[in-house]
Amino acid sequence: MSATKKMPPTIFVIFGGTGDLNARKLVPALYHLFLDGWLPEQFALIGTGRTELTDEEFQKRMLDGINAFSRTGKADKDQWAKFSPHIVYQLADVKNAGAYQKFGTRIAAYEKAWKAPANVIYYLAVAPEFFPIIAANLAESKLADDSDRTRIVVEKPFGHDLDSSRELNRLLGQIFDERQIYRIDHYLGKETVQNIMAFRFANALLEPLWNRNYIEHVQISVTEQLGVGDRSGYYDGAGAMRDMIQNHLLQLLCLVAMEPPVNFTADEVRNRKVDVLRAMRRFAPEDVRESAVRGQYGPGWMEGQQVPGYRQETDADPKSNTETFAAVKFFVDNWRWQGVPFYVRTGKRMHRSASIITIQFKDTPHNIFPPETAESWQQNRLIISIQPEMSIRLQVQAKRPGLDMMLNTVDMVFDYKGTYTSEAPEAYETLLLDTMLGDQTLFMRGDQVEAAWDLIMPILQSWQGRASQSFPNYSADSWGPELAEALIARDGFHWFTLPLTTNK
Ligand code: BG6
Repeated sequence: MSATKKMPPTIFVIFGGTGDLNARKLVPALYHLFLDGWLPEQFALIGTGRTELTDEEFQKRMLDGINAFSRTGKADKDQWAKFSPHIVYQLADVKNAGAYQKFGTRIAAYEKAWKAPANVIYYLAVAPEFFPIIAANLAESKLADDSDRTRIVVEKPFGHDLDSSRELNRLLGQIFDERQIYRIDHYLGKETVQNIMAFRFANALLEPLWNRNYIEHVQISVTEQLGVGDRSGYYDGAGAMRDMIQNHLLQLLCLVAMEPPVNFTADEVRNRKVDVLRAMRRFAPEDVRESAVRGQYGPGWMEGQQVPGYRQETDADPKSNTETFAAVKFFVDNWRWQGVPFYVRTGKRMHRSASIITIQFKDTPHNIFPPETAESWQQNRLIISIQPEMSIRLQVQAKRPGLDMMLNTVDMVFDYKGTYTSEAPEAYETLLLDTMLGDQTLFMRGDQVEAAWDLIMPILQSWQGRASQSFPNYSADSWGPELAEALIARDGFHWFTLPLTTNK
């Protein structure tokens, strides 16, 4: 699809307008959509917050956000002059039902000036404890009555466990239809993540190999160099399992493991993804020790800088039992994947930031070459690199040039940088545009969220029930706790990392 001006008049009401997410991600994304001609002329962003600000002061904050965080650097003066009048500020305490009338008045004024009804998107960029009260107040103020024109966007975390996610789904479901609810998992908006579906389902050659007959194991690894920093307030009640595995990593796993959908519509795609979550083997409490490893980083050095351990981060509990690393071995109990382990790991303060999916194929059934010909023998691997390198590489054996028959491993690479000149949009650009277009394909459906919680609950319960005696058990700038190596080494494999030269 190309940029179009035919989008209906649209108003974003951003709760948490003065917050970090809005300045870092949402407004820079909307600004890029504006630059690329995706926003309708009749567009407004109403930021809300409890700080008293004029429209100009709020616009200035948003400009600072763009200048600091936009993928294309500082805002263009002329473009900003055209974009900024679309942004206004509304002082409001979201807990106070009376305040919502002001939004109603603003929306009505825009519609009157535009002489057309607007689609209104309520974006909850606030702490999760405010989700229910905002939804209830929108309903009470009759701002959510038109189910065709109103949508609600909910940031993660969507619940804290299975029960709370069910409760939140129930509350939202009393007010909004499922087709109005956009649960964000920003990984799904990433260009390289969307490409997993294109790669799998737009190419005929993969499907015959994509199963237990040819694939030996799958690894999904999302490692970050960053520590928790000043996010302990949120992170200490979450941990790596809730923060990353319940959502981002399980979604990546679903994209690798899903059956081909009948077509590329939101419900077809999401049906196939939820099938995977439902097919995943549940853990009995006694399995958790075998199949899951947790870690917490201690102090250390990263790129020449001394960095604190997790327990020493701002506002962190000095005795915290929260994991900053988690690795789990999953199985998908269906015909396609029976017996194929899916290893996932994620951690903070790791040696390198890299999100990589590795599909390791089974070995050749019979080796016709004498052992001394193999300089570096390796089974075929398909490596989907999501970030920072954006590539797909297939590792194959080839004959090294020369008079003798010597084999080594080479990479066949599709690299975004070398193939496309245009820069990939940020995940939030894709996701915000989709909320405007009413396309839920890249958003989490209620049943998906619950199925993911259901799967990980035994691990969470087991870890909460017994405090780790070994935390901190990995140092900054490492690859996580030794037990995570053992988890995969027991099966004869090791965690794969891309060579450093291609990774930065
Ligand atoms: C967020 C988590 O959802 O994803 C963070 O809350 C994490 O803890 C972040 O750092 C990683 O996102 P990205 O896009 O930088 O890989």
